Amino acid sequence: MAESGRVAIDCDDAAVEMKQALLVHLRGIGIDVTDLEYARSHIGAMYPEIGFHLACQVRDRVFDRGVLICGTGLGMAIVANKVEGVYAGVCHDVYSAERLARSNDAQVLTLGQRVIGIEHAKKVVEVWLASRFEGGGSIPKVEQMRRIEHDSFHPGE
Ligand code: RB5
Repeated sequence: MAESGRVAIDCDDAAVEMKQALLVHLRGIGIDVTDLEYARSHIGAMYPEIGFHLACQVRDRVFDRGVLICGTGLGMAIVANKVEGVYAGVCHDVYSAERLARSNDAQVLTLGQRVIGIEHAKKVVEVWLASRFEGGGSIPKVEQMRRIEHDSFHPGE
């Protein structure tokens, strides 16, 4: 598998089983993955703070990529995208997972334990981690996305 860099993973209370299974699987195939376990030190933590915590570490380059899991993957994606410089997408199929890296250059993938099975989730994450931004025609689109993000976070600058 291509070099995946340092990968962080975390989940809310709706996705503990999937996170554990992915952790074991990813380590088993040689991925450098760290379980942030935000909820262990923040009892009762909900998906917004868990997702924000991981996304900030990706923004700060502590990790190269992150996997966030909740019931649907939706809340985690919404909150991760609130962090400047972090791009996240929900993927419940292998094609989308590949495109998330190749077209969108996203560093965070989110999943819903209530939406797909664990074996499928393993394949989705594996494919995403093995995929890289393809450049080419996707460059102006990603650049435009970054400009829009900048204008949104820094109006008038
Ligand atoms: C459960 O808290 C559920 O709302 C959460 O896991 C997630 O699906 C939100 O998007």
